[in-house]
Amino acid sequence: ARAYQQAKPALGWNSWNAFGCNGGSANAAMTAANQFKSLGLLALGYNYVNIDDCWTSSARDSSGNLQADPSKWPHGVASVATTLHGMGLKFGLYGDAGEKTCAGHPGSGGHETQDAKLLSSWGVDFWKYDNCYTNCNGQYPQTCWGVSRSTKAWYQPMGTALAAVSHPILFSLCSWGQDNVWTWGKTVGGSSWRMANDISDSWSSVASIANAAAGIASYAGPDGFNDLDMLEIGNGGLSAAEERAHFGLWAIAKSPLIIGTDLSKISASSLAILKNAGLIAINQDSLGKAASYFHPKNVAGPTSGQLYPYWAGPLSDGVVLGLVASNGAQSFTVNFADVPGLGAGSFAWKEMYSGKTGTGTTVSISLASHDMAVYKVTKS
Ligand code: GLA
Repeated sequence: ARAYQQAKPALGWNSWNAFGCNGGSANAAMTAANQFKSLGLLALGYNYVNIDDCWTSSARDSSGNLQADPSKWPHGVASVATTLHGMGLKFGLYGDAGEKTCAGHPGSGGHETQDAKLLSSWGVDFWKYDNCYTNCNGQYPQTCWGVSRSTKAWYQPMGTALAAVSHPILFSLCSWGQDNVWTWGKTVGGSSWRMANDISDSWSSVASIANAAAGIASYAGPDGFNDLDMLEIGNGGLSAAEERAHFGLWAIAKSPLIIGTDLSKISASSLAILKNAGLIAINQDSLGKAASYFHPKNVAGPTSGQLYPYWAGPLSDGVVLGLVASNGAQSFTVNFADVPGLGAGSFAWKEMYSGKTGTGTTVSISLASHDMAVYKVTKS
């Protein structure tokens, strides 16, 4: 048996990017849950409200169980899960495969069966599982890079334990791309796996993660997706154009779309990006295949170190074409004949940010620096 697997990338919110360690509370979960309803996010499919690191006390209880910090969870975890379920939402928590979480709270290494049972009894629906303080050549440092070891061995016991409990729990591997996790994440029961190190609220971080995801696009498929990390939309480090590119790239890469901002402060422009129904539908397309980069004939290949400007991928009912002005303001004209999955002839297209539609053998657009256009292209 495998842990519960979800055929489509998860849609939701996580406390970490906006609140860090302070976000590990019942209050953070309840606030986000109410905002999902009032902002119309639940209606668009966002349903996971996930609490990240720092939700536990500093030690396990006398029975060896993880315990919620009583100052942050005055009525316990199960009551929050039950309330969220009653609102039509799902509830996620965070743990770690090693001795400690990245922020130093108790890890689940060696406690996998006990912890999986506890999560199930509470009604937890999503378990983000981090990679800090695992065995690194007999040492247990916070992170372990450049050492040959099996990351899979640290994730397998929790995957096995989650598969054995009664409540379905989605297993989200926070494995930072170590040991090519895209080649084995699904076999340990993972529905998604972080394929790179932590995102930061900057264009260079967004660009480098997207380029790395292009190289492993073929590993994404129903039940197992490359996780490009939680979104930074709304956090202030990206321009509006960059936020459009960030969301567009994550959507077409079939990454889980996990909002990472304080929803009480989000601008209308950032919220509109997160609520783009066309992009959400592309992300949730039943085929589950990720887009990757291409370069049209007569266009120079990508400049090293620069975000790929041309992206395409298959959909169940067409092709998604992404164009990013990655090297300053840029005018594009793309022949559909050059796009992987299309060919000669006329096609119908719709651009997801402007809503513009058209038909023909080419599509043209001028984009401001770092802006993105995402087209759904179908037979006309
Ligand atoms: C790691 C993860 C982040 C976040 C923090 C919490 O850095 O990759 O996503 O969960 O730990 O400490």
